[in-house]
Amino acid sequence: MSKGNSLHKRRGTADSEKKQIKNRINDARLVEQGSLWRRGALITCLLVVSAVVPWVVIMFFRSTGDQITTFASADNIVKRAVQEILCSKDYDNEEFSECKPKHCRRVVMDNLVSEEEAAYLLGIAKKGLQFGGSSGGASILDLHSGALSKGDKFVNIYQVLDEMHENVFTKNDFDIYREVKNKIHQAIAKEFKIPLSKLYLTKPTFFSRMNTIEAKTMHDEYWHPHVDKVTYGSFHYTSLLYLSTYGRDFSGGRFIFVDTDSNKTVEPRIGRVSFFTSGSENVHYVEKLEDGVRYAITISFTCDPQKAIDDPGI
Ligand SMILES: *[C@@H]1O[C@H](CO)[C@@H](O)[C@H](O)[C@H]1NC(C)=O
Repeated sequence: MSKGNSLHKRRGTADSEKKQIKNRINDARLVEQGSLWRRGALITCLLVVSAVVPWVVIMFFRSTGDQITTFASADNIVKRAVQEILCSKDYDNEEFSECKPKHCRRVVMDNLVSEEEAAYLLGIAKKGLQFGGSSGGASILDLHSGALSKGDKFVNIYQVLDEMHENVFTKNDFDIYREVKNKIHQAIAKEFKIPLSKLYLTKPTFFSRMNTIEAKTMHDEYWHPHVDKVTYGSFHYTSLLYLSTYGRDFSGGRFIFVDTDSNKTVEPRIGRVSFFTSGSENVHYVEKLEDGVRYAITISFTCDPQKAIDDPGI
């Protein structure tokens, strides 16, 4: 009996030990589950934070203004910067298969035209513009047609000069003008793989001067987004040669491509050439000038031989 008793006792002890061990295992499991749960919560937290923080940052910057990406800064010399874009359908029903854009893009080149050449052309622009000038903030001088802004309309500079018995433009002026135009013509033909003889200079090709004077006529309102192919009809490729520099000669006045994701800016820089296909893939505008004076030349090209124009000269 006592044997049996002690056996019972021992079994009882063994049972309680087993129970204790079981409890300890359960506790450990609970601790482990707790730490698993905490780890899960932490990971979830991190995931939520890493998803939400960039969103908040993006929304913050969105709310502070439009999305703008600098495509070409005035501070950097760009050998050749290219941005590919999907062509609009604007060219689909046109002939000129050797010339019309097959791929569309925007290109910026700082080494095509030298700063000296640009400075020389700036001198030509100033010489001509002193005989006119818009009453609003934007003036043009077109050496091909002779169109010169004057007050709220246009006069013909060659006629004005004739009447005044003035002779301001030299053969050298027209030589440099033509050489620079030819370089840009060749660069566009090369970039878009067009035989040079199938791409023609077209009108209007003109110097522009912008300042901060308030607009008086619609000709002064350069800041509306537009499509060159619509505004000017004949354009297939638009080029711009800048004769002054953003941040040095003027502020505001950046060139802006309007895109759905983010707008892209080209900051003018003396000697910088920017060219692009003229269709609705390249909606653009120039920001309102805030300070200073901005000079550029718009040099335009067409695939239509009937819209071709000649070089100016004397
Ligand atoms: C781009 O500019 C246009 C015209 O100023 C503006 O309406 C548009 O919101 C801008 N786009 C983006 C993505 O910021």
